[in-house]
Amino acid sequence: MTYEEALHKLAPAGQEHLLQYYEELPQKQKDSLLGQIEALDLSLLELIKEGVAEVPKGKLEPLGALTQEEIQERKDIYEKKGLEAIQACKVGAVLLAGGQGTRLGMDKPKGMLNVGINRELYLFGQLVNNLMEVVKKADAWIPLLVMTSEKNNEDTTAFFAEHDYFGYNKDYVFFFVQEMAPSVSYDGKIYMEEKYKLSTSPNGNGGWFSSLVRAGLLEKLQEFGVEWLNVFSVDNVLQKIADPVFVGAAIDSGCVCGSKVVAKAEQGEKVGVLCLEDGKPSIVEYYEMTDEIRNSRDEKGQLLYNYGVTLNYLFDIGTLTRIMGENMPTHVVEKKIPYLNEHAQLINPEEPNGYKFETLVLDMIHMMDNCLSFEVERRKEFAPIKNRTGVDSLESARELMRENGIAL
Ligand code: UTP
Repeated sequence: MTYEEALHKLAPAGQEHLLQYYEELPQKQKDSLLGQIEALDLSLLELIKEGVAEVPKGKLEPLGALTQEEIQERKDIYEKKGLEAIQACKVGAVLLAGGQGTRLGMDKPKGMLNVGINRELYLFGQLVNNLMEVVKKADAWIPLLVMTSEKNNEDTTAFFAEHDYFGYNKDYVFFFVQEMAPSVSYDGKIYMEEKYKLSTSPNGNGGWFSSLVRAGLLEKLQEFGVEWLNVFSVDNVLQKIADPVFVGAAIDSGCVCGSKVVAKAEQGEKVGVLCLEDGKPSIVEYYEMTDEIRNSRDEKGQLLYNYGVTLNYLFDIGTLTRIMGENMPTHVVEKKIPYLNEHAQLINPEEPNGYKFETLVLDMIHMMDNCLSFEVERRKEFAPIKNRTGVDSLESARELMRENGIAL
């Protein structure tokens, strides 16, 4: 793309400022900038013009869950089934580690957070420990795929290598890099992070499967014979990964996906709830429900919309492959975005200053015909580290880790 072509592309969208330093750049950076502009998807900016309101939800109905009690009754059957699938290498694990964790505010990948106190215990290491429990029980390695972004791929892969894959078999660990999207100010101007570089951020965790396919890893999974993928977040230190009981229950249910859920801690808890929307499984955020729906109860007094998702899903690969070409909704999310100010100085804002564009793995659930809602015990399996202090922080996660006998 030439300078003129770039200008021609940007001007109608009011984005000519991206070329303001062009003349002073060395040739290599000029070429790089033009390449970024050529690849730029300006249609995303339309989403801001339309207003940042989310698409209204369809008709909601409760889905309930396979409760802890019900799971307990059939635990041995589920576990046996799950272990058999794992031993046959039918289950893979996908760690979503491409996010920037802006709420926590680390300048390194979140998985490099040391959750230990008297010893080094990194988030990545603890997640591998959790997976190792199953590997030992099944006496079989489970393929572990790690999604990074171009912002943290180098640090992440180096960290795994430095720590000898935290004791995992490195022949079963595969990294892949997700896509990026531009970040914009509240008035829709794309930010720059260097004079030759548009500000971009990872485009959400919803593209994980297509990024994995693009990286050639579907063939790899097929070689192993993998049929199910357990997708999980980087920051829930207590979660079980490739949990045989969950896997067995999902297979037994005949569903094409499953989600680990927890009962709400209180009626007003701000969690995404797994329910039915227009007859299909769906995750609906608390603010997308009316008070009446949110607080409705059955005849026994139980909340009907009671099960919050924990970002631990199991998907059948065949179904993922079939839906891959379908469009997913893009969410416009307010975030803190580092940017070049009018003096070309890089500013790291303390407060959100614009929007990022993200697709979300939770929207995949609505693309599935059915979903096993699988209840787990919150204090045993849900300790996400999202914030610096308070709720869902390092402090609260450490407390739960101690409670579960993990030495810090
Ligand atoms: P979060 O919703 O916590 O988002 O991600 P985040 O961007 O990492 O953190 P904040 O909101 O800026 O504080 C949930 C999971 O999805 C992954 C994260 O790494 C985390 O495991 N994720 C998120 C990606 O892999 N890619 C993304 O683009 C976004």
